[in-house]
Amino acid sequence: MSSPSNVRADFVWGVSTASYQIEGAVQEDGRGPSIWDRYCRQIGRIANGDRGDMACDHYHRYAEDIDQMRVLGIGAYRFSVAWPRILPAGRGAVNVAGLAFYDRLIDALLAARIEPWLCLYHWDLPQALDDRGGWISRDCALWFADYVAVVARHFGDRVKRFATFNEPSVFTLLGYGLGSHAPGIADRPAHLRAIHHVNLGHGAGVDVLRSLVPAASIGAIHNYQPCHPSPDTPQNAAAAQLLDAYWNRAFPDPQLLASYPPSIAEAIEPYQQAGDMAAICCPVDWFGLNHYSPIYCKADSGALLGFSFAEAPVHLSRTGIGWPICPDAFRETLLAISRRYRLPIYVLENGYGGPEHADASGQVEDLARIDYLNAYTQAMKAAIGLGADVRGYFVWSLMDNFEWAEGYAQRFGLIHVDYESQRRTPKASAGWYAQMIAASR
Ligand code: FCB
Repeated sequence: MSSPSNVRADFVWGVSTASYQIEGAVQEDGRGPSIWDRYCRQIGRIANGDRGDMACDHYHRYAEDIDQMRVLGIGAYRFSVAWPRILPAGRGAVNVAGLAFYDRLIDALLAARIEPWLCLYHWDLPQALDDRGGWISRDCALWFADYVAVVARHFGDRVKRFATFNEPSVFTLLGYGLGSHAPGIADRPAHLRAIHHVNLGHGAGVDVLRSLVPAASIGAIHNYQPCHPSPDTPQNAAAAQLLDAYWNRAFPDPQLLASYPPSIAEAIEPYQQAGDMAAICCPVDWFGLNHYSPIYCKADSGALLGFSFAEAPVHLSRTGIGWPICPDAFRETLLAISRRYRLPIYVLENGYGGPEHADASGQVEDLARIDYLNAYTQAMKAAIGLGADVRGYFVWSLMDNFEWAEGYAQRFGLIHVDYESQRRTPKASAGWYAQMIAASR
């Protein structure tokens, strides 16, 4: 096992999940519908027609899942709260049973000495708000702030780590620009509006958290992936620059540097009002980074945004889901973010996905995942050695779960889930991670 010597003594080793991907119980105890419930029911949207109705049944099996984490020695658990469980209509009446579920979860985490990291928005917008325009409407930032206040007031006595949004650039681009995620809209003005309104929601959410939870440690979670032209032509290079603006900078730049990237600023201008940038850019405590691989793109005059995703060069090795394996890009990303935003970094997602099958005894010898995690954690340590201020690393994901448009076929878990029986079996990588955590103590 490699030496963990260059990580801080208080380095946080965690795992991440998200509400719609694991909870199930979508119609239980007063939860309202979310945009993902509806999207999954539209024919042809999700591989195999899968949906999150049952997922990992974590709503009922959370205690077993926490126990698995405790046994592995995991120090922190990042989960998301489902807005429609707390406010079934998105605003107005609070669902006490929804709060009670997260009370049980948080109390059990604390009893197991696992720090709760609460993400307020991992994509499951209440359907009732989408019916009023969702993130296309400027009001959505205010609805979000009201929801944050309910969560902060109720859980702020026990939870100190809060993230406003998970991967805002992914859910705005795929959900409103390309239509390949919920709510399935492909419209340029809708995408631009959603970007700005989510940024306003972030600023408003941070204000609410600061005023209601004085000791809160707050950030947002951004995916950041170097964008490369493929093949490398001048047109594709310009497309890669534009994708970089939407994918990597449209949220961290305004939130942390008070400006939109120049290549998209003019397009967003019509939706801005005086004072917006000051409301969006407010001090946070850390940069949450999700990173898996670089991405590739090409110019595409027929596409709504003028570019489309492209295949990675054939010589690169890939994970089972097809994402290039490139630990050097992770090291460079950590260094670039550290220099640009000057905040402590928590890696809140990194992991290996692919189709996997358990053997007859339920075991999964996921050696490719171990290789990936080993190479990526080494790259992180190299970045730390070169000066990046990285304070934590969370594997995506604790267990196999509902992988959005890919359904259940692509598995990212350290723990295998048999969806028929809901039986959980730690994979070889879970043992590897437990050992690495133990060695770093
Ligand atoms: C990220 C998402 C997460 C999961 C991983 C594989 O983009 O935040 O929910 O789907 O990818």
